[in-house]
Amino acid sequence: MPRPCSLLSFLLKVYFGLQYFIIGIPAKDVAQHVNPFIGTEGQGNPGTAIGGGNVFPGAALPFGVVKFGIDTTAFDWTNVDANAGYTPDGYVTGVSLLHESGTGGAPTYGFVHQMALSTLKNVNVLDNLTYMQERVEPDVASVGYFKTSLANGVIAELSATAHTGIIQYNFTSGDERHILVDVSHMLPSSGEAQHSQFYSSGFMARSPDGTRYQGYGVYRALTKWNVGPDASVYFCAEFNTAPLTVQLFSGEHTDPYWPNSTLPSFKPPVFTNASSISGGQAYCGYGRRVGGLFTFSPNATAVKSKLGVSFVDSDKACQYIASELPTWDLEPIVISAISQWNTGVLSKVTTTDKSNATLIEMLYSGLYKMHPMPSDRTGENPNWETDEPTYDDFYTLWDTFRCLNSYLVLTAPIRAAGIVRGLVDVWRWERFMPDARSGNYNGRGGSNADNVLADAYVKGLFAPEYGINWTDAYAAMKTNAELVPYNTFDYGDPTGSVKEGRGALPDWLNLGYVSMYDPVAGTGFGRCISRTVEYSLNDFALSQVAKDLSPGDHVKYLNRSAGWQKIWQHNLTSLNFTGFLAPLYANGTRDSSYSPLNCGVWCSWSDVTYEGLPWEYSWTIPYDMSTLISYMGGPSTTESRLDAMFTPGLQDGSVGSGNGIGSAIFNPGNEPSFGTPFLYNYLPGRQWKSVMRSREIVNQYYSNGRDGVPGNSDAGALESWMVWNLLGLYPVVTQPIYLILSPWFSDVTISVAGNKTLKITTEGLGKGPYIQNLTVNGEVWNKSWLTHDDLVSGVGGSIHFVLGSKQTEWDLGELPPSPGHVDLGIKN
Ligand SMILES: *[C@@H]1O[C@H](CO)[C@@H](O)[C@H](O)[C@H]1NC(C)=O
Ligand SMILES: *[C@@H]1O[C@H](CO)[C@@H](O)[C@H](O)[C@H]1NC(C)=O
Ligand SMILES: *[C@@H]1O[C@H](CO)[C@@H](O)[C@H](O)[C@H]1NC(C)=O
Ligand SMILES: *[C@@H]1O[C@H](CO)[C@@H](O)[C@H](O)[C@H]1NC(C)=O
Ligand SMILES: *[C@@H]1O[C@H](CO)[C@@H](O)[C@H](O)[C@H]1NC(C)=O
Ligand SMILES: *[C@@H]1O[C@H](CO)[C@@H](O)[C@H](O)[C@H]1NC(C)=O
Ligand SMILES: *[C@@H]1O[C@H](CO)[C@@H](O)[C@H](O)[C@H]1NC(C)=O
Ligand SMILES: *[C@@H]1O[C@H](CO)[C@@H](O)[C@H](O)[C@H]1NC(C)=O
Ligand SMILES: *[C@@H]1O[C@H](CO)[C@@H](O)[C@H](O)[C@H]1NC(C)=O
Ligand SMILES: *[C@@H]1O[C@H](CO)[C@@H](O)[C@H](O)[C@H]1NC(C)=O
Ligand SMILES: *[C@@H]1O[C@H](CO)[C@@H](O)[C@H](O)[C@H]1NC(C)=O
Ligand SMILES: *[C@@H]1O[C@H](CO)[C@@H](O)[C@H](O)[C@H]1NC(C)=O
Repeated sequence: MPRPCSLLSFLLKVYFGLQYFIIGIPAKDVAQHVNPFIGTEGQGNPGTAIGGGNVFPGAALPFGVVKFGIDTTAFDWTNVDANAGYTPDGYVTGVSLLHESGTGGAPTYGFVHQMALSTLKNVNVLDNLTYMQERVEPDVASVGYFKTSLANGVIAELSATAHTGIIQYNFTSGDERHILVDVSHMLPSSGEAQHSQFYSSGFMARSPDGTRYQGYGVYRALTKWNVGPDASVYFCAEFNTAPLTVQLFSGEHTDPYWPNSTLPSFKPPVFTNASSISGGQAYCGYGRRVGGLFTFSPNATAVKSKLGVSFVDSDKACQYIASELPTWDLEPIVISAISQWNTGVLSKVTTTDKSNATLIEMLYSGLYKMHPMPSDRTGENPNWETDEPTYDDFYTLWDTFRCLNSYLVLTAPIRAAGIVRGLVDVWRWERFMPDARSGNYNGRGGSNADNVLADAYVKGLFAPEYGINWTDAYAAMKTNAELVPYNTFDYGDPTGSVKEGRGALPDWLNLGYVSMYDPVAGTGFGRCISRTVEYSLNDFALSQVAKDLSPGDHVKYLNRSAGWQKIWQHNLTSLNFTGFLAPLYANGTRDSSYSPLNCGVWCSWSDVTYEGLPWEYSWTIPYDMSTLISYMGGPSTTESRLDAMFTPGLQDGSVGSGNGIGSAIFNPGNEPSFGTPFLYNYLPGRQWKSVMRSREIVNQYYSNGRDGVPGNSDAGALESWMVWNLLGLYPVVTQPIYLILSPWFSDVTISVAGNKTLKITTEGLGKGPYIQNLTVNGEVWNKSWLTHDDLVSGVGGSIHFVLGSKQTEWDLGELPPSPGHVDLGIKN
């Protein structure tokens, strides 16, 4: 396959004028700068996914339902959960339509499967170990396109539309051509079998000539990001040529606790010539596995297939094939995908500064990785009828609310509003907005939808054209703030719900903080520190929406947002700094053994902080930096303390894997530390240090390599952090403000707020990254921040940076605001 550019001109010649070729051809094809493999390998673990970003490198549209790619099992399976189905090493067990991108833990999906076989010798269609294949060439991927070359001589090339995938199998060796369809195929979890998906049952029917089949699989989701009952996924598929023979088959269900299964070897499948096969009752016990084996003529060197998926019914999956795949040719589908990525995402950011190809690739690949999810399932809601947009695959808002959702608010407000409407619609029907959601059910998470909604509100998405019902939206936020979700008794943290809402709300309502768990007294909750600061921000979010919509609530939630001060221990010292967030028992006593350098065992569900150290969490009060700075001892001590965050070697080695990489306390790989490098902007004349940190961290931890993301991408959350850095801005979400950093390109033009333009220009970039002078919308600027209006009012905004090597105190003007300023005056 040629690169998209040459492909484009080639196809223009070939297809121009044909009826289906009505897509717009982008003038400047920035899609060529996307490398879908960035984030598939781990830093320090080349060639493997260990410690990697778990990004999905297959074919997909922005927010597409279908993410079509290969499913693999890594050579070293013990250290990898192939959450997106993909590992660079290991064996291919097939292709499938549904994937997620970017987290760890037990995977979701891997449904709607096919596997091309060139022999049936020693193959048990029920046992993937008997047919899985190594890859003999490196995989190839570009926007809308993926290719893999298997040891059995099959070369598979594929592309995707919103609800379908198209694949071409070239059989280059032997004369057997088979396509195996295993309805029970799914992504297993190697490390967390307790959270693995289960196959429950399925059904499959074929047309008399075997060119089409359709049906459904029933899967049970107990994964972290999806806690739901048995649910059906419907499929439809076609072949471009009739098979010589088709045999449907069934077999015993498998032990879901693979790979520790104690089942003896697989019993042979039962084949049938019947035109349909059913796995039987799904809803009481397990049904049988079902599938089909399609055998084609030796003359069929290239077999093509179209696959569609629906969550509603299989005829609908067939209709998607009819409407979205009007051709058997892959190329126009690839071109259409490129065009949609360009129009919807990539071309919204342009630069004439192509001097550093690495940076260009980081920028466009970053933008690409930010937009696979959530999946736009509008019209595909199996659980209720609605005219609202339906979104699924929030993976999770805890990860994305800071940098990713805020990027959509700026560059794609209609999309951002649709996502908010989808979240509120979940609340209408299921009582809680999700934090994590996939497979049409809420999963693990909390109440960070509050932050997403408030950020949309304060940035103007209350205008009628956005269609958000803010009465309902605020009611949904209030549900998070006032209604205790039922306990899910998760083994990771049995103290309260880990599914949705605020599991530790009883403490928050009674004590104003989340107290330290004490199993003997039966008081307190897991993650007492991180939840205290998270609920504080959530309540600040409510206060900002309440200001207009429910003025009586404004002060109440503002006061509640100061809850973090109730656990602040003013006399606690760590690394010579005094004053930290610290666990507090329900009776008001402290745990004397506590150190803010230590989160507990794993920085996980039952520890005092989640995916970050208490040291890190002590910075996360963006709405009241003025109180925080005073609690830390004033600007000068705060500056030294920020410096300590980035000093190598200060991290206490005793903490668990949740803390990510690097030896500094700052953790580039998890979200709690996202905003910390830029807090220098809250200290007069110290913005240059934020620029220094921004440059250091991006240069050290991000690249255009396959290991170019410092840990799980988290649905693009990490990439969105990087992209803001490259643009020279950082959003302070739930407030309509951005901190000013320093751009990496001499000019960037960003399409914002619909049809408006934000122009960011620099001079002196070659001399150094530090701001010498700044102009915002033509005005000389001495503030380290600006407002959303500064970027989007009128026809848009313009920011001109004069850069250089001198670390200049240019930012002596008004400091960034602390709109949640409340000092409870507690002296703990
Ligand atoms: C697959 O076969 C088709 C038809 O022979 C050919 O046009 C195409 O280039 C082949 N693709 C690959 C990757 O070899
Ligand atoms: C391989 O098949 C077994 C048995 O069905 C299943 O438990 C496992 O999850 C499959 N592995 C992969 C990587 O798909
Ligand atoms: C699988 O077995 C291994 C080795 O006995 C064990 O360490 C691991 O915890 C088991 N996994 C599950 C999910 O039971
Ligand atoms: C299916 O039909 C073929 C051809 O008629 C026959 O050879 C085969 O035995 C049949 N298989 C089954 C399971 O009935
Ligand atoms: C394959 O092609 C040859 C030559 O055209 C033809 O004779 C033969 O019947 C074909 N075989 C099948 C199974 O279609
Ligand atoms: C391009 O940018 C990358 C990332 O900042 C940097 O590592 C590299 O040195 C730059 N290359 C050139 C030629 O400036
Ligand atoms: C918002 O939704 C509620 C019902 O959920 C409805 O009563 C109200 O009229 C809606 N508001 C607007 C402005 O549509
Ligand atoms: C803390 O202070 C002591 C004594 O002044 C000094 O030796 C040590 O290096 C300091 N630690 C840090 C992290 O600054
Ligand atoms: C307070 O609670 C902690 C933890 O439950 C307990 O260890 C301690 O004895 C209690 N102190 C008082 C004074 O009740
Ligand atoms: C952009 O402008 C076009 C033409 O003026 C208009 O049709 C379209 O609705 C505008 N889009 C947005 C998002 O405002
Ligand atoms: C910055 O702006 C001031 C006032 O506009 C001007 O005097 C100064 O020369 C400028 N400095 C640089 C480096 O452009
Ligand atoms: C800190 O203050 C608490 C009471 O607020 C007290 O119990 C504790 O002993 C003090 N610790 C130190 C190190 O002064």
